[in-house]
Amino acid sequence: MKAEKSRSVIVKKFGGYDCLLIENFDLPELDGLIEVKVDCGGLNFADLYTRQGLMLDKKLPFVLGMECTGTVTAVGTETDLVIGQKVICYDYEGGMYRDVIRVSPEKCYPLPEYIDSKIGAAIFVNYLTAYFALIGLGNLKENEKVLIMSCAGGVGCAATQLARTIKDVKIFGIGSQGKEQQAKENGVDIFYSNESFKAEIIKEKFDLIIANEIGPTFTYLQNILNPLGRIVLTGANNIITNERKLSMFSLLKAWWSTKYVNPETLITNNRLVGGLHLGTLAKSDPKTTKNALNYIFDLLRTGVINPKIHSVMPMSEIIAATKLLGDRKNVGKVLIQMEET
Ligand SMILES: NC(=O)c1ccc[n+]([C@@H]2O[C@H](COP(=O)([O-])OP(=O)(O)OC[C@H]3O[C@@H](n4cnc5c(N)ncnc54)[C@H](OP(=O)(O)O)[C@@H]3O)[C@@H](O)[C@H]2O)c1
Repeated sequence: MKAEKSRSVIVKKFGGYDCLLIENFDLPELDGLIEVKVDCGGLNFADLYTRQGLMLDKKLPFVLGMECTGTVTAVGTETDLVIGQKVICYDYEGGMYRDVIRVSPEKCYPLPEYIDSKIGAAIFVNYLTAYFALIGLGNLKENEKVLIMSCAGGVGCAATQLARTIKDVKIFGIGSQGKEQQAKENGVDIFYSNESFKAEIIKEKFDLIIANEIGPTFTYLQNILNPLGRIVLTGANNIITNERKLSMFSLLKAWWSTKYVNPETLITNNRLVGGLHLGTLAKSDPKTTKNALNYIFDLLRTGVINPKIHSVMPMSEIIAATKLLGDRKNVGKVLIQMEET
């Protein structure tokens, strides 16, 4: 008899941390899907935006969580995946923080035997975002200078390690002052603190910037690119200012204060301004996504990258786990384990 409900992290209304509840929640019918017993979920900054109501079209209640690892326990459709297969599951629309999930096989990626489930839950979003920003769009090359915002976060640590794989790249990172040592141990050459980077950076220009703030900082960063420089926007960290529901006013204010990119400025300054959304990319180009994931698997197998895990917490501590991200306490990935020990 297959499970019809599973223990899940649910959001019933948008707002603060106390909107995260652990309850049994209905599973869809197995028909057309596969069932996975979940081991670990990987937390992402987007969990904060989602809980606070940024995804305006999201219907309440819903199960939080974009990525997890687990083992296939039942198959309700034609697929190459078999019972017992270990998988990474990813869906940017959520649904992954629960002890059993039923998902379409397109959202599941076989996990090689040499990768354990914790590492598996720490790689999909962080390393693929970093890969497509740095290499896919950013075209980072030998001898170039790259500036990585939030260099000690999950994506930042992954981006630092991937940038290190390119010969003689100089890596500059921005982050909270207390994270400098760990960022440098992870591969950052020059570290700037959030508070003073604009003053410290003044003598530098960069070939590539991985940015995650909208508003005036995004405009400022475009102006510190070298000729033929690239900037890739991956997020909007600065709209998370407190733990309440995001107000429409603060969202609009953040976008209003982001200057439109002027085509004339692009041409006369010889620069590229781009953006990345891993979720829509994985949906629209699964082949490229799988190829990039296999590339990451290979870097793991050969020990070239080493995912940084900040902590692993039980599902029942989801509030404390997401607070680590909101309070800027994490260096690397925060995971939740579904089975309580
Ligand atoms: N486009 C995509 O497909 C995609 C995919 C994944 C992630 N992202 C984006 O990439 C960024 C990093 O994500 P992540 O999952 O790596 O998150 P993370 O591990 O939580 O790292 C985020 C870091 O951002 C900094 N930060 C800046 N403003 C903050 C604020 N208001 N509240 C809390 N932290 C703040 C903190 O670092 P310091 O304390 O060092 O400043 C924090 O550790 C986010 O903007 C996220 O939305 C985008």
